[in-house]
Amino acid sequence: DRAARIAPDLLRWYDANARTLPWRTAPGSNVPADPYRVWLSEIMLQQTTVAAVKPYFKDFTARWPNVAALAAAPDQDVLAAWAGLGYYARARNLIACARTVAEAGGRFPETEDGLRALPGVGAYTAAAIAAIAFGQRAVAVDANVERVVSRLFAIATPLPASRPAIRAAAGSITSDARAGDFAQAMMDLGSSICTSREPKCLVCPLRRDCRAQAQGIAASLPVKAAKKPR
Ligand code: ADE
Ligand code: SF4
Repeated sequence: DRAARIAPDLLRWYDANARTLPWRTAPGSNVPADPYRVWLSEIMLQQTTVAAVKPYFKDFTARWPNVAALAAAPDQDVLAAWAGLGYYARARNLIACARTVAEAGGRFPETEDGLRALPGVGAYTAAAIAAIAFGQRAVAVDANVERVVSRLFAIATPLPASRPAIRAAAGSITSDARAGDFAQAMMDLGSSICTSREPKCLVCPLRRDCRAQAQGIAASLPVKAAKKPR
């Protein structure tokens, strides 16, 4: 059926079109992603673009190649290396998280609940790490994924009221196989094809299964609730 076709179509597109990023393994790779690198990249990407994160990610992983090394670094060295990424609370949480994981033996928790208990790791980041680093069928819904899913299912209820429906719809198309690739394929589709203005539906791998595209309303979704007058 329709929902069942989406993941295979998306993964086929990802195999040919995945961005090469320093924290990624190749699509379909049997080499598991390093949880430390996945975690570090996801924290850096929380409020910062992929382009801006790349040089910081390379610098951090060259200086501190694993969580034990980062945990042992003096605070001021990490904060200085973070300078320019902004949101210093993220850097403080990064240090706290590295030390928590290092003290627990250096392994990241593998479940979403375990990950969420770490400093600086919210629902989205926990799901992203669970999927990308541990291959779990976790549903990582950020603004990009919200946009793609609201269009695939033509969800016209305004955000944020539509969030539970978007989550449920995202869950219904998430594949068991290749969970990390699926999560990252949704991110890539949202940033390169299913863009907020002028989505490129003509070249979209999900076109035949997209309700917003069939109804000609893609660019108007997701609807955002009007700001309350003050
Ligand atoms: N944004 C957040 N996580 C990402 C990832 N793993 N790849 C690309 N963009 C992202
Ligand atoms: Fe987005 Fe268009 Fe693809 Fe639908 S067909 S998922 S609206 S790019």
